[in-house]
Amino acid sequence: MVEEIQSKLFYLGINDRQSDFFEGQWPLPHGISYNSYLLSGEKNILIDGVARSATEEWLQKIEQIIPIQELDYLVVNHLEPDHSGSIPVLRRINPEIQLIGTDKTAEMLKKFYSINSGVKLVKSGQTLQIGDHKLSFYPVPFVHWPESMVTYCPERKLLFSNDIFGSYGSLEGGLFNRETALRHRDSELLRYFSNIIGSLTTPALKALEKLSKLEIKTVAPSHGPLWKEDTEQLFKLYKEWCTMQGRPGITLIYGTMYGYTEQLMEQVARGIASAGLKDFTVIDIARTHPSFALAEAWRRRGLIIGSPTYGNGLFPPAQNLLEMLLNKGLENPVAAFFGCHGWSGGAINKLCKAADKLDWEQPVTPVKFSGEPSSDELKKAFSMGQTVATNRSLIGG
Ligand code: FEO
Repeated sequence: MVEEIQSKLFYLGINDRQSDFFEGQWPLPHGISYNSYLLSGEKNILIDGVARSATEEWLQKIEQIIPIQELDYLVVNHLEPDHSGSIPVLRRINPEIQLIGTDKTAEMLKKFYSINSGVKLVKSGQTLQIGDHKLSFYPVPFVHWPESMVTYCPERKLLFSNDIFGSYGSLEGGLFNRETALRHRDSELLRYFSNIIGSLTTPALKALEKLSKLEIKTVAPSHGPLWKEDTEQLFKLYKEWCTMQGRPGITLIYGTMYGYTEQLMEQVARGIASAGLKDFTVIDIARTHPSFALAEAWRRRGLIIGSPTYGNGLFPPAQNLLEMLLNKGLENPVAAFFGCHGWSGGAINKLCKAADKLDWEQPVTPVKFSGEPSSDELKKAFSMGQTVATNRSLIGG
């Protein structure tokens, strides 16, 4: 059954519980939803499509409300195939449907789907009266792609925000934020942000500034739950993540080959706990996909990484994570490093180089060891945990 979430506004989203990865790389242990909406009335307007794999189910949902041939418009907020994969089939069934987007959208429609006609161009801030619906369009370039746009419905004070405020995870019963599993509003929201928007925080901040001028009562993203009541808090959270403030706390990420680096990790963790810092987490990077570790690093201001030296560099799972942190450009952590020196000290050197590049504050000299850590090195590891945990910027002093 298709849900009418407001008068003449239908939710047409599809839960994808089959795909193992989003964008072919980010794990989806709880699936993902591709949200699409229909405004029905004098003109019938779809907002965003779905992935190609979800097209059949999506078309069936539309047909529960109106025949596909009676659709007049599809607003194309974003061309990434998780939203646009359904366009070619839709156009084959209904060649008259008009696509709405920016000039960039039109360019990309040609490149992706050889669509050269039937595209209505809109400019930034333009409002169209389409039948009994009024819609305003706001390009948000590079959140996520150059053509990305959001659509605002002034009469409803509703923002179709596409990727912005999106979350991993299929919707399980509820559609709105207060009805869905906590992970949608917390870990999966942040994981989506850090994985997808993380490297685009400058354009994302610009987009937030633009959108904060609108009166928004409901946010309808294209992944995860819709938001009402808590939209102010949602904007605040996004701003916090875009400016990479991080909450007081420490994310302790380590890898180990034979348990020696782990011995240091245990002491670092003891040091953190002894300082009374409550929000910290320990992640074994060989057993945790960087998608999750990245989100946890984004969440807290403190970041401690431990790694053995492997070859002349980092333990490969730690190297993957470091590349991800560099790629996303996570700034502002208070960082510290520990690890096995091996023959060349390669692991710590790589971590320190990355810290310099990202301008991370390092209040403690890295703790290195060769062979088995000595009692002095274990003490230094304990003290590292304590020092970082009592760092003023971590505890908010
Ligand atoms: Fe949900 Fe950038 O695609």
